[in-house]
Amino acid sequence: MRIGFIGAGSMVAAIVRGAVAAGRRGSDFLFTDAHGVHAPALAKEVGGEVARSNGSLAHRVDLLFLGVKPHVQYTVIERIAHIVRERPEMCVVSLAAGRTLDTILQDFGAAVPLIRVMPNVNAQIGQSMSGICAVNASEEQICAVEDLMNTVGRSVRIQEKDFPIFSALAGCSPAWVFQIIETLARAGVKHGLSKDAAVAVVTQALFGSASLVADAHSRGLVPAQLIDQVTSPGGTTIAGLLAAESHGLSNALVAAVDAAVKRDAELS
Ligand SMILES: NC(=O)c1ccc[n+]([C@@H]2O[C@H](COP(=O)([O-])OP(=O)(O)OC[C@H]3O[C@@H](n4cnc5c(N)ncnc54)[C@H](OP(=O)(O)O)[C@@H]3O)[C@@H](O)[C@H]2O)c1
Repeated sequence: MRIGFIGAGSMVAAIVRGAVAAGRRGSDFLFTDAHGVHAPALAKEVGGEVARSNGSLAHRVDLLFLGVKPHVQYTVIERIAHIVRERPEMCVVSLAAGRTLDTILQDFGAAVPLIRVMPNVNAQIGQSMSGICAVNASEEQICAVEDLMNTVGRSVRIQEKDFPIFSALAGCSPAWVFQIIETLARAGVKHGLSKDAAVAVVTQALFGSASLVADAHSRGLVPAQLIDQVTSPGGTTIAGLLAAESHGLSNALVAAVDAAVKRDAELS
């Protein structure tokens, strides 16, 4: 299966590197970009090929990834729509945040096979949580995209109506976690640790905690049960937890999700 990528920026590079590391043949990949720097570099790195133009790429591939920024996507589609319409066996894959299946189909002016993927920044280290939904695509095409996305983390099929909440929980939450790590590390500095040591301590603590939740979840346990396990009566953890709650920890996180979902609706 030949896979083409229009755009060779950070997300496409993460997906392609993950795929090649998982044993996919780089020679199956074709690339284009806007300035002739990133596509040749990525093609050289993985043994792929640079296509002459977006149109030439659209003539030659079975899966066509639109890896450009959302505001550029319409312009790119406008120039290749006639080629895509003539090749109903080809499936288009959009990585663009906030662009719905309906909007993209309108841009193509036809019911082309289309898959929408929402990866997250952790794809760079093979730890994405990616959401996938599709219209007009075959099961084989959806599985091909799922297999590719699973080389850079995990993926789940979701209904498109759930994309806004998925995007908040999986797409936006990494930035919120970065802020939590930064803040806890600053608290460590306040109490005498170096920033470097504090970041290392907090990062490993959160990394281990997320892994423990994942392990517990696979055994049918929920995070609240883990909280009960670590909050000894009269201890430091319950004192800290209740102080955080009285300062609005849970409310702040729910407000962050609400704001992201609201903003997604405004942008769509
Ligand atoms: N990065 C993330 O964490 C993340 C997370 C979720 C979803 N996404 C989605 O993934 C997509 C790509 O994001 P990104 O962060 O990888 O962006 P990026 O690093 O800015 O890459 C965009 C790529 O598009 C290329 N491009 C622009 N106009 C083009 C054109 N007319 N023809 C061909 N290529 C063109 C650029 O070429 P040059 O290299 O020559 O400039 C660049 O390689 C976006 O739709 C974004 O919403 C990204």
